[in-house]
Amino acid sequence: MIVVAVVSAKGGVGKSTMAANLAVALSRHARAVLAVDLDPQNALHLHFGGQPQDIAGLSRASVGGTAWGEVVTRAASGVRVLPFGQINEVDLPTLERRIADDPHWLSTQLRSLDLPADAVVILDTPPGVSHTLRQALAVADRVISVVLADAASYATLPQIENLIRRHYGAKPGSVESVCIVNQVDATSRLSREALQLIEGVPGMRVLGRVRADRSVSEALAHGQTVVESAQDSVGRQDLLQCAEQVLQLLPAPGQQAPEATADAEAPVETQPEPTVVLGDEDRRPQGQAAPKSRKAGVYRLMAALLCAALVLLIVLWIRTR
Ligand SMILES: Nc1ncnc2c1ncn2[C@@H]1O[C@H](COP(=O)(O)OP(=O)(O)O)[C@@H](O)[C@H]1O
Ligand SMILES: [Mg+2]
Repeated sequence: MIVVAVVSAKGGVGKSTMAANLAVALSRHARAVLAVDLDPQNALHLHFGGQPQDIAGLSRASVGGTAWGEVVTRAASGVRVLPFGQINEVDLPTLERRIADDPHWLSTQLRSLDLPADAVVILDTPPGVSHTLRQALAVADRVISVVLADAASYATLPQIENLIRRHYGAKPGSVESVCIVNQVDATSRLSREALQLIEGVPGMRVLGRVRADRSVSEALAHGQTVVESAQDSVGRQDLLQCAEQVLQLLPAPGQQAPEATADAEAPVETQPEPTVVLGDEDRRPQGQAAPKSRKAGVYRLMAALLCAALVLLIVLWIRTR
């Protein structure tokens, strides 16, 4: 199997849209494609005709000990889809702990599917830094980051690039990561300038641009990808072109993809983790306790309170004499 991870520092940039459309477009090139949703937002399956109330998916399967193969569905396009599924608030932390404790969780689960060597697995990942994202990068043969042509996306590029370098770029067989700029608005000066800035980032290879197009979100409203829709919109053209480019990055059928051997929790570089999104737990290297400075601050505060209480007692004692 050849694993393609679709990643971003920020949410709402079009990752799931990209993953779903790439999956359908690649399946038209006679590639067996499995689209896997690793994001608890559980949005990927909606692009394949799934319903918001659908429950089954890899989250419950992982917690309940069910094989992932049993919750894979088949979309009308022929793409196999593994939704994240719905999970309750008790089971979600259990799943997150399992992912944090077992750096090989994702690779083990993917291997258990026993896919053909030339099958393409597209991973739709949660935004920002997480154990899931680290594992996705460690298991990926190719990484595609999605950014918007705006200042906020431009600002987060170094963070996601740093993470990609740490967990993907340093392992054997890795190639350069690429990015797709989404929702480009040629009529907006700001959008054009942001695109120029992104294209000018050293080491950044922009694989494609997708224009902002209402038909992309309209297709989602109909439970399909814009690639499948009859109407030949600019969004569809752009996404098909991106898929052509992605296809060039993949080993041809029969040509084995390099084995992803990196350990998700043992990054080879020693650069600091990027401080993107999410909570404190994700900003610290795994296993590291709360920063000492915070504890020291608490002790200082307690000491100051004790001193103040002591002074107050002395003043009261002097007054009552
Ligand atoms: N090129 C585009 N043109 C117009 N709307 C888009 C485009 N790409 C994505 N969208 C819309 O943007 C929203 C967020 O996309 P989504 O793929 O869910 O982002 P993410 O997975 O990064 O959170 C969706 O409503 C989607 O239909
Ligand atoms: Mg998404």
